[in-house]
Amino acid sequence: MSYGLLKGKRGIISGALDENSIAWKVAQHAKEEGAIFTLTNAPIAMRMGEINKLAEQCDAKIIPADATSVEDIEKLFVDSMEFLGGKIDFVLHSIGMSTNIRKGKEYGDLNYDWFMKSLDVSALSLHKMLQVAEKLDALESHGSVVALSYIAAQRSFLDYTDMTQAKAMLESIARSYGFRYGKKNGVRVNTVSQSPTKTSAGTGISGFNAFFEYANQMSPLGNASADECADYVVTLFSDLTRKVTMQNLFHDGGFSCVGISEEIAAKMG
Ligand SMILES: NC(=O)c1ccc[n+]([C@@H]2O[C@H](COP(=O)([O-])OP(=O)(O)OC[C@H]3O[C@@H](n4cnc5c(N)ncnc54)[C@H](O)[C@@H]3O)[C@@H](O)[C@H]2O)c1
Repeated sequence: MSYGLLKGKRGIISGALDENSIAWKVAQHAKEEGAIFTLTNAPIAMRMGEINKLAEQCDAKIIPADATSVEDIEKLFVDSMEFLGGKIDFVLHSIGMSTNIRKGKEYGDLNYDWFMKSLDVSALSLHKMLQVAEKLDALESHGSVVALSYIAAQRSFLDYTDMTQAKAMLESIARSYGFRYGKKNGVRVNTVSQSPTKTSAGTGISGFNAFFEYANQMSPLGNASADECADYVVTLFSDLTRKVTMQNLFHDGGFSCVGISEEIAAKMG
């Protein structure tokens, strides 16, 4: 069902890799709600070509940008404003990557160059987007920026290794920049802490199925799907949430507030 929540709004959506990506669903829902936007991803991720299908469906322009490159991000904002015909109302940061996780490195045996890369790609990139946007005065007043996080920022989770610190940094940047940009231009910045979701980044974590099943059985509402996450993100882009900022918002079926559920208790015997 569509409510026209984003009618007339201009956005930038990063991170749509394939149809399982959370960003893919956000793009589809934003389109349904009346937004126009550009899509962006790392040039290397474009090789798969999947994003072209989404761009066609959404009448969106694709602007390649490595999220670690300030130069690429500047071009992303300048070209987006030109294509969309004005300042940007919303930005989705849906970017995460850890070579340590990809290579199966344990927390006690991390490669520090890769660790720095994880922080740069998955967290600092949010700061870079916000700083570029501020310097270019690219965001409409009362604009909304949302980045996706995970509860491993607050609790230890097996095998999430350096992404744990990346998510903690991401949430911290949302708070610090949320204060600055809120004061300056009424722009809000939030993170959405999403349930385990079956995407390329999600299933790349060893033991992902256990994460997924455990969270599902702990949560009174069950895990939130990528589609449900997109619904929530759309409300944060809309004018219905104009006083929500600097928050880490759990979108997890209740998982973050549960001690133990009947399902898990039964398994303990
Ligand atoms: N899947 C889950 O279980 C889960 C749970 C909570 C939060 N998240 C977060 O959601 C976000 C989106 O991930 P997803 O699950 O949709 O997986 P995904 O693999 O579909 O998306 C991750 C995206 O990051 C992009 N990316 C990687 N390096 C980049 C770079 N240098 N520049 C620009 N883009 C780059 C990838 O190309 C990809 O599109 C991530 O921040 C992830 O940590 C995922």
